[in-house]
Amino acid sequence: MTDRIIPLLDERVRAPRPAIPAQLETPTGRLTDRLARHLHDLRISVTDRCNFRCTYCMPREVFDSNYRFLPHAELLTFEEITRLARIFIDHGVEKIRLTGGEPLLRKDLERLIGMLASLTTRAGQPLDLTLTTNASILARKARALAAAGLKRVTVSLDALDDAVFRRMNDADFPVADVLRGIDAAAAAGLAPIKINMVVKRGTNDDEIAPMARHFRGSGHILRFIEFMDVGTSNGWRMDDVVPSAEVIKRIGAEWPVEPIDANYTGEVAERWRYRDGAGEIGVISSVTQAFCRTCTRARLSTEGKLYLCLFAQSGHDLRALVRGGASDAEISTAIAHIWRARSDRYSELRSQATVALPKIEMSYIGG
Ligand code: GTP
Ligand code: 5AD
Ligand code: SF4
Ligand code: SF4
Repeated sequence: MTDRIIPLLDERVRAPRPAIPAQLETPTGRLTDRLARHLHDLRISVTDRCNFRCTYCMPREVFDSNYRFLPHAELLTFEEITRLARIFIDHGVEKIRLTGGEPLLRKDLERLIGMLASLTTRAGQPLDLTLTTNASILARKARALAAAGLKRVTVSLDALDDAVFRRMNDADFPVADVLRGIDAAAAAGLAPIKINMVVKRGTNDDEIAPMARHFRGSGHILRFIEFMDVGTSNGWRMDDVVPSAEVIKRIGAEWPVEPIDANYTGEVAERWRYRDGAGEIGVISSVTQAFCRTCTRARLSTEGKLYLCLFAQSGHDLRALVRGGASDAEISTAIAHIWRARSDRYSELRSQATVALPKIEMSYIGG
């Protein structure tokens, strides 16, 4: 490996217990932050563990046998997660994404999915309940996940070439098993299936066309993600980023594409479609075209800390409120105050100076 590895700072300490405001509020479902962005999505990390060691996320040199993952007692229980989810829904959340680490490694995850699937939005609609997975055990789990109430899945896959993929996941995991997981998810009705490919120059950019070719016409939506400076351990350099404009140009040279409208305001991916009708692709350009202006995402860590940005340097310890006996109204009002004070827009402010800041890790907060 030629990557420069920077030792992890323990991000898990910087999350004070939020103050409970004296004046309790009834949630209106229209909470806005200092940049007029409302709270619409909640991303819940259910484990900080993963069976992969993707070089851009959990480099083995850092996440080795000495690395201390969270002990079980630290994790939010399914009941605690569901209680917090309900409070967030009262504030207007309509989409919940489960992440990790690798979320399918959390024991009995189907039970949590069942509990979350029984919640409805303020308007009485079902939640958009989804999950991001490396698909290593998806083939085994897809049917049970769908039966429990999961709507769809997003699968991470960085290459079609087995050697490149094995090198990137650094766990010797084969492409074929991921493809089997995707097929099982499709058979179980977990659609639309999105495939996320993080593109790193010199590592897997040769895989852009093969990936596009493979998923064209499959009904699945392949998205190319610009490699980001999440955390402090992945040795990020601007030189490693392949700008989305270049990705689109490369694909367009082979199969003409045209842009299409976003599904909803604040959609992370910019959508394109093949002119020959072979379906849709997307690009996620956090580095070259920041999308903070419409960022409606809150992130809950495995042990119950609330983060307002993927690049946050500190969080808010909701578990301390939950386990300290706070009422729903108290927790809800505390969250309202936290969201109203939010002004995070890291990607818009990214510079050489911000890259080295001690930020939370992707494997801890889950993307
Ligand atoms: P859909 O609901 O399917 O539209 O999902 P999504 O595109 O919002 O979610 P997904 O988790 O698939 O996001 C894809 C990737 O985009 C993530 O893995 C991250 O790499 C990146 N991403 C998602 N949200 C953010 C964000 O708020 N900020 C930044 N900088 N990157 C993000
Ligand atoms: N830059 C961009 N995307 C990343 N992911 C993990 N680390 C990074 C990074 N540094 C993506 C994974 C997965 C999701 C959880 O986040 O590929 O799709
Ligand atoms: Fe695991 Fe996903 Fe991180 Fe890879 S990107 S190490 S699969 S959490
Ligand atoms: Fe949202 Fe932070 Fe990502 Fe900007 S960098 S889109 S504020 S999570």
